[in-house]
Amino acid sequence: MGKTYNIATIPGDGTGPEVLREGIKVIDAVSKKIGFTVKYTSYDLGGERYLKTGEVLPDSTLDELRGYDAIYLGAIGHPDVKPGILEKGILLRTRFELDQYINLRPVKLYEGVETPLRNKGPDDIDFVVIRENTEGLYTGAGGFLKKGTKDEVAIQESINTRKGVERCIRFAFEYTRNRNKQKKLTLCAKTNVLTYASDLWARTFYEVAEEYPDVKTDYAHVDATCMWMVKNPEWFDVIVTDNLFGDIITDLGAIIQGGLGIAAGGNINPEGVSMFEPMGGSAPKYTGKNVINPLAAIMAGGMMLDFLGEKTGFIEIENAVKKALKNDIKSLDAGKMGYGTKEVGDLIVSYINR
Ligand code: IPM
Ligand code: MN
Repeated sequence: MGKTYNIATIPGDGTGPEVLREGIKVIDAVSKKIGFTVKYTSYDLGGERYLKTGEVLPDSTLDELRGYDAIYLGAIGHPDVKPGILEKGILLRTRFELDQYINLRPVKLYEGVETPLRNKGPDDIDFVVIRENTEGLYTGAGGFLKKGTKDEVAIQESINTRKGVERCIRFAFEYTRNRNKQKKLTLCAKTNVLTYASDLWARTFYEVAEEYPDVKTDYAHVDATCMWMVKNPEWFDVIVTDNLFGDIITDLGAIIQGGLGIAAGGNINPEGVSMFEPMGGSAPKYTGKNVINPLAAIMAGGMMLDFLGEKTGFIEIENAVKKALKNDIKSLDAGKMGYGTKEVGDLIVSYINR
């Protein structure tokens, strides 16, 4: 008998529950095939609960989340809730309090998927962005002076600690080594302007690099990184960067790999509880229509299995997704897939069971 994993699910808002349902369906098929068990406990968090009860993420829920093997999230965001409340209160708070200091976002173009980049194919677009996930401009440090007056001052500070930067960079070197492709790690920063924050990143990067002589190092300013991701994506193997730069370049990454329909990410605490999610939002206008693409949620489920130690489970899911993209699914966009949300889940399961 294989292991048993206890997973907390947060279906969340909009299309979150629909895509997560398909992800769970796929994980269940894989676990049956390989011989491990996954138990789910669902947490009702998100816009509906907030509107009904005023609760965003109770401390007791956060404490319970610490007790699971992983967290599997659908989507957070509600049209009737002011932007920021749910994002900060649920998503960012979980990342911070569970110290999920890595945001791992693979950018991989699969065969059969259309990219907006002319003359680029699956051989060219295959890299991973490692985004620092607990510091930088995301900590909420700063404030207003004389708010609402003509003399108003707004300060938003980027917090970069040696410890936070170093653990992220170390993770990136280890990851690049184990990924074993080009074995090249690119630091993405802005050393020409951010002469304190990016300086700390660069010094730490080159210090840690000495312990990884087998990994080639490279540097690109964040603006140039955007340019090269479009012009020469094949140059990249692994990119490591801070929280906000990582947020921005991974949306660019998502679009060159075919869009948010396929982009998945992991909020990882290598020593603790990690959370896996599709990168797309709650897509309110598609809610309940069975048209949203569940592949990003399915791939996030695959990443979760990988991090739980079920590497074969991840490979099973990725292979099934590859076949469906190559043979069956017409487009990654909602409503244009040639299949409904449920049917995409069924298709992936059928490849797993073949
Ligand atoms: C992401 C999202 C979040 C972020 C938002 C929703 C707070 O854009 O996961 O990339 O900025 O990190
Ligand atoms: Mn983002």
